[in-house]
Amino acid sequence: MTVDVKTTAGVSGIGQTGRILYDRESRETVGEPFVEGARMTCRGVNVYYGDKHAIKNVALDIGRNEVVAMIGPSGCGKSTFLRCLNRMNDTIDTCRVEGEITLDGMDIYGKEVDVVPLRAQVGMVFQKPNPFPKSIYDNVAYGPRIHGLAQNKVELDEIVETSLRKAGLWEEVKDLMTHPGTGLSGGQQQRLCIARTIAVSPEVILMDEPCSALDPIATSIIEDLIDELKQQFSIAIVTHSMQQASRVSQRTAYFHLGDLIEVGDTAQIFTTPRHQLTQDYITGRFG
Ligand SMILES: Nc1ncnc2c1ncn2[C@@H]1O[C@H](COP(=O)(O)OP(=O)(O)OP(=O)(O)O)[C@@H](O)[C@H]1O
Ligand SMILES: [Mg+2]
Repeated sequence: MTVDVKTTAGVSGIGQTGRILYDRESRETVGEPFVEGARMTCRGVNVYYGDKHAIKNVALDIGRNEVVAMIGPSGCGKSTFLRCLNRMNDTIDTCRVEGEITLDGMDIYGKEVDVVPLRAQVGMVFQKPNPFPKSIYDNVAYGPRIHGLAQNKVELDEIVETSLRKAGLWEEVKDLMTHPGTGLSGGQQQRLCIARTIAVSPEVILMDEPCSALDPIATSIIEDLIDELKQQFSIAIVTHSMQQASRVSQRTAYFHLGDLIEVGDTAQIFTTPRHQLTQDYITGRFG
């Protein structure tokens, strides 16, 4: 759905750098929402809460080993869209999702799909760290236990250790396995939640403002971690911080009132956006 920038339709004027900018009224996605060999594909996705049309005909791919940032003003639908990717919207009574979303070619809204394993394959990390009221060990072991991923205690121990190592938390907690997860600092709790997500071997990790409750040091640790995790997983992250989007993502998607306005290489989105609305947002004129 690439739009040729040379066309005059929907074009409002020339940006500071001589770029042609798409008009504020134009709602067709500008840029390149699709990637080669995508891990997840979304086509014609519409989401409604009752009569409210919260996501409007969105098409977007999540590639392999990439971090896609989703940005936009509050209420534009970032969390709603993210929740479509592992069917978390199913838990909201008034919510209706239309369109097609696939994971490795499988329609995740297909009748035969069981959402429990789906939510392990497409794991989610929330804004506020939410460890279970259990020990550190049991927080991480919980998923592997319910999904039967370990044959015995030795295997389970190994999954717990590996997950905590990948989440960059092992050294800090290896002697505290029986301590409650809720006793850790906020940043440690968020890494524990990441370890819990990793423990069930997901393919995609969804993160909804994972650092907004953390201080700058804990944030920086999580950002470094995201960079490492993308070697193994595909990551979609919602963030209100444009600096964070620039630091951690390769592609950025800008949403506005339920429309996906522009998608592109992160550096391009922040330096030479092609849509007037993207430009308004990144220059602080909107949101
Ligand atoms: N459970 C719900 N019931 C009804 N409307 C909802 C529900 N959740 C979200 N909405 C509405 O859908 C729209 C998109 O909301 P969403 O939470 O996805 O936005 P967001 O971009 O994540 O915002 P924020 O940056 O504030 O987190 C908003 O108008 C919101 O009021
Ligand atoms: Mg949100």
